Amino acid sequence: MTDKKLWAGRFNEPTDAFVEAFTASVEFDQRLAPQDIAGSIAHATMLTRQGILTEEEFASIKAGLEQILASIEKGEFEWSVALEDVHMNVEAALTEAIGIAGKKLHTGRSRNDQVATDIRLYMRDEIDLVLAEVSRLQEALLLVAEREAATILPGFTHLQTAQPVTFGHHMMAWFEMLQRDAGRLADCRARMNVMPLGAAALAGTTYPIDRHYTAQLLGFDAPAENSLDAVSDRDFAIEFTAAASILMMHLSRFSEELIIWSSAQFAFVTLSDAFCTGSSIMPQKKNPDVPELVRGKSGRIFGHLMALLTLMKGQPLAYNKDNQEDKEPLFDTVDNLKGCLKVFADMIPAIQCRADNMRNATMKGFATATDLADYLVVKGVAFRDAHEIVGKAVALCIEKECDLSDLSLAELQAFSDIIDEEVFTVLTLEGSVKARDHIGGTAPNQVLAAVKRARQRLNEN
Ligand code: ARG
Repeated sequence: MTDKKLWAGRFNEPTDAFVEAFTASVEFDQRLAPQDIAGSIAHATMLTRQGILTEEEFASIKAGLEQILASIEKGEFEWSVALEDVHMNVEAALTEAIGIAGKKLHTGRSRNDQVATDIRLYMRDEIDLVLAEVSRLQEALLLVAEREAATILPGFTHLQTAQPVTFGHHMMAWFEMLQRDAGRLADCRARMNVMPLGAAALAGTTYPIDRHYTAQLLGFDAPAENSLDAVSDRDFAIEFTAAASILMMHLSRFSEELIIWSSAQFAFVTLSDAFCTGSSIMPQKKNPDVPELVRGKSGRIFGHLMALLTLMKGQPLAYNKDNQEDKEPLFDTVDNLKGCLKVFADMIPAIQCRADNMRNATMKGFATATDLADYLVVKGVAFRDAHEIVGKAVALCIEKECDLSDLSLAELQAFSDIIDEEVFTVLTLEGSVKARDHIGGTAPNQVLAAVKRARQRLNEN
């Protein structure tokens, strides 16, 4: 293939060798080749319908582009840095293959509207893949939540024992966060799905194009309303990395819990060997590398969000070469986000709960103190007084190094003579979780009901 620049007409001197490599994007934007070719075929279809290309020209353009795609997919295509980017590589190869008709493809089009279209097509597909992985992870959480609907562990605030909760309820908290993440990604996809083609370089084109037709061919909801906006803004990329960052923040928090829970000191869960690695020096080690790496990868994705925001903030309308810098952060976000979701979706169903350890841990820290206060309130004590009474009972337990449920009835009655035998049912862990029996509460039957509703919501996504 000749490496002659497609824009060489007005130039007298060759491009500086370093500048050629410095300004090229083909090394990374070749990933957009399938979208670039799909966009070109749609563009050519429209040009033909409008009488701008002949049927014969269209047939050879289409066949030529399909052949190029096949050779790219086989890894046989020779990419040229001198041809700068994926768009000019494909166009040059087309012209080499089919001659003059290849040179007509770019009629009424610019690389500016071309690249803005390619990225949107690419992002649309990738968001669909990301959403499929989010659903798979949510399904995994539902499985575990159902299995462990009645398994009790300490619920924490300030990482101090607060109240008993069920493991199923805890898993459903992560389900909800992912549900909002999926909503954000779907919103972003919907806003992104407008077509830049036809904006050409920035002002539109003088040819009698039919943008509605091209948009329909490419599955866009509509052509972009404003040509200057269409070629220049990358807010959709920022919106995607923002949604990705929030998702990664959630996965990172989740990771943190898995790491803590799988330590010998907590020992709440066992992660499958398939998701851990050993140490080259300490024979006993089984490290939770997968959640650690996911927690770590959140950093690079937050970084990409900052990179894209900064990339855009100083750009006057319309297209500027700065925008070439949108691709690497975007691609890296897509790759890592999909990787993190996949590994989580695979890892979560294999989590084993160590219910005895969770239970023993819940027995430390007076997790049922609020239940005792609520019990007194039901019997007519004002909540603030009940709070005070229970605080004193807790102080006695600390002195005696025992749990509230270990105090005798007489000991409890010394704090309030309103207390009777019944009190011991509210002081049990099972009694405590079972009593939180309302929508959004931790009671095992509520967890099962939440799982059922969640399955329905997932189907509606
Ligand atoms: N490689 C370029 C990019 O990624 C394509 C658009 C180039 N347009 C231009 N006028 N130089 O943004």
